[in-house]
Amino acid sequence: MTIPGKEDKLAGIAEEIRRCPLCRQWGTGEPVPGEGHADADILFIGEAPGREEAKSGRPFIGRSGRLLRSMISEAGLRAEEVYITSPVKYLPLRGTPSKANIIHSREHLMKQVEIIDPEVIVLMGAVACLALLDRKAATTKEHGTTVLKDGRKYFITCHPAYGLRFPSGKITLLEDFRKLRELIRTRK
Ligand code: URA
Repeated sequence: MTIPGKEDKLAGIAEEIRRCPLCRQWGTGEPVPGEGHADADILFIGEAPGREEAKSGRPFIGRSGRLLRSMISEAGLRAEEVYITSPVKYLPLRGTPSKANIIHSREHLMKQVEIIDPEVIVLMGAVACLALLDRKAATTKEHGTTVLKDGRKYFITCHPAYGLRFPSGKITLLEDFRKLRELIRTRK
């Protein structure tokens, strides 16, 4: 059962994102605040919406999204256990989001983290690491590791797009999701 008020609070943040002039300055299309359960145990964080996401307003519905969603279900996680979002909430005007965009957009993300209050936050790629760990991370080296910071548990992995681009990236992701499954199974 969802803690009363969480869904309303998340809807408030989505509205804040829709009206945010700074987010708009760097991005285009529909805002993509995120989707999933307001009381999720696991929060998946990517980079920024792509074209398909910017058309629909839904996160991870393109090729990367299909890979992510299949790995989530293969890890035995159910829809009510997860929430999926990205630090940057709009399709960036110029491909990769700028650091200024990430630093601004994470203010919205951090509010979402506070509300959802997940047990594990899965950081998928360097942009997610920069936004939440506040540092550059070499995800090819640090993937599969768990980091504790300010009372929160972060699990580092690669962005699903990396798995689509490189066969070795897909293997890395599949191994990491197996570890994530163990982490979640043994958490209580
Ligand atoms: N990649 C992301 O990082 N986020 C999305 O929502 C879609 C693709």
